[in-house]
Amino acid sequence: GQVAEAAVALGVQREQQEFGDMLVGSYQDTYHNLTLKVMHGLKWACEQCWPRYILKMDEDCFVNTNCLPAFLAELNTVSMGLYVGSLFSRKKRQVICEPSASGTCRPSRDSRPDEYPPYPSGIGYILSLDAAEKILEATQHVHPIPVEDAYIGILAEEAGVQARMSACFAKHNVRWHVCNYRYLMVIHHLSPHEQEAAQQSMLQAHSACRHSLELTCWK
Ligand SMILES: *[C@@H]1O[C@H](CO)[C@@H](O)[C@H](O)[C@H]1NC(C)=O
Repeated sequence: GQVAEAAVALGVQREQQEFGDMLVGSYQDTYHNLTLKVMHGLKWACEQCWPRYILKMDEDCFVNTNCLPAFLAELNTVSMGLYVGSLFSRKKRQVICEPSASGTCRPSRDSRPDEYPPYPSGIGYILSLDAAEKILEATQHVHPIPVEDAYIGILAEEAGVQARMSACFAKHNVRWHVCNYRYLMVIHHLSPHEQEAAQQSMLQAHSACRHSLELTCWK
């Protein structure tokens, strides 16, 4: 999005000119506007890119580039209607409305206005293209809320796309063993230094953990 600080804006512009791999929207890039940013990315993916799958993730996440692409291309059996990640428990899906935020809380369309439908954390989730298209379509009927991942969950429910739980998405960067990198696809909350360590673990897991669990399905 658009940033106020001139130095950051210049950095974004340079990055875009040099690599041409950034999408820059016209909205203010603020935490409150995160939903706009996510929807912008999804719209671009569906209208200009047409991938088979979309991985939405936060920038402080590690992604297992060794396993995930091959898994999706060769082993994934759910190629349609896929919406998978680390789902929030019911307790964490309670809608908290602040008086000042009236109108930005969950639209009271359904019978459970105080609870979001099951949805994966925005740290990282995968959508198949058809699921992403249905979710985008649903934006016509559902007003956005600032909680970006909950909004995707509401849209998915509206579109009849079911959220799927997978242990391959980790919300917390605990002391994962090298062999956990055989199946972990996304891990949240890594510093740049920790990214390097995770990368090493991922590469080691390939040879060091031949006999440990390898990902064969969403579980
Ligand atoms: C979101 O972006 C719009 C469009 O740039 C801007 O008018 C609005 O102030 C932003 N909202 C917040 C809360 O940042």
